[in-house]
Amino acid sequence: MLKFTKEFILSPRSTGAIAPSSSELANTITNAANLAMAKTVVEFGSGTGVFTERILQNIGNETVFFALEINPVFVNKTRQRCPDAIVYQDWASNVKKYLEDHGESHCDCIVSGLPWTLFEAAEQNQLLHVISESLRPNGTFVSFTYLGGNLSPGGRRFKNSLPSHFSRISRTKMVWNNLPPAFVYSCTK
Ligand SMILES: C[S@@+](CC[C@H](N)C(=O)[O-])C[C@H]1O[C@@H](n2cnc3c(N)ncnc32)[C@H](O)[C@@H]1O
Repeated sequence: MLKFTKEFILSPRSTGAIAPSSSELANTITNAANLAMAKTVVEFGSGTGVFTERILQNIGNETVFFALEINPVFVNKTRQRCPDAIVYQDWASNVKKYLEDHGESHCDCIVSGLPWTLFEAAEQNQLLHVISESLRPNGTFVSFTYLGGNLSPGGRRFKNSLPSHFSRISRTKMVWNNLPPAFVYSCTK
């Protein structure tokens, strides 16, 4: 928790939160991801590995899984917490290179912990484009947004961009046991 807050103070825009997600939010986002059916799963922005741990508990033994995290401190935290996880220190936008390295052209599911509401318009658009290109037809993209963040300009822009990339979009109920409270968008390509 303290390490996470320190990274927020050092890089507020890319860290995007003052605390790691709660186990309740981890349950909500992994339940929305339909992981049991997925053959290839990617996580963006693993932080301290809260979602990573839950993803590993929910995927099959044969499922290809890796995480992309830009902050080296968080890469190490995720690796310590989840020694079985493959974690690369790189930008989420480079996902296609790592899918190819794993012998995959596409993935079934992307679990995002990225701070979308803080991204500029060009960054949001480029990444949503990469996500939509990387998912198989009927693939799932899940991502959380903090209460209030959805009303910010970046949050509204993110929500309004989703229909251009996905055929079905739903959101979960608010997870109040999280700092700050958050909900999850679940999007099907
Ligand atoms: C809000 S934190 C979420 C961390 C963790 N998933 C959780 O829920 O506790 C966002 C994380 O995304 C990472 N991140 C931000 N932009 C990124 C990018 N473009 N590619 C990969 N990781 C990124 C940050 O370093 C940080 O670990």
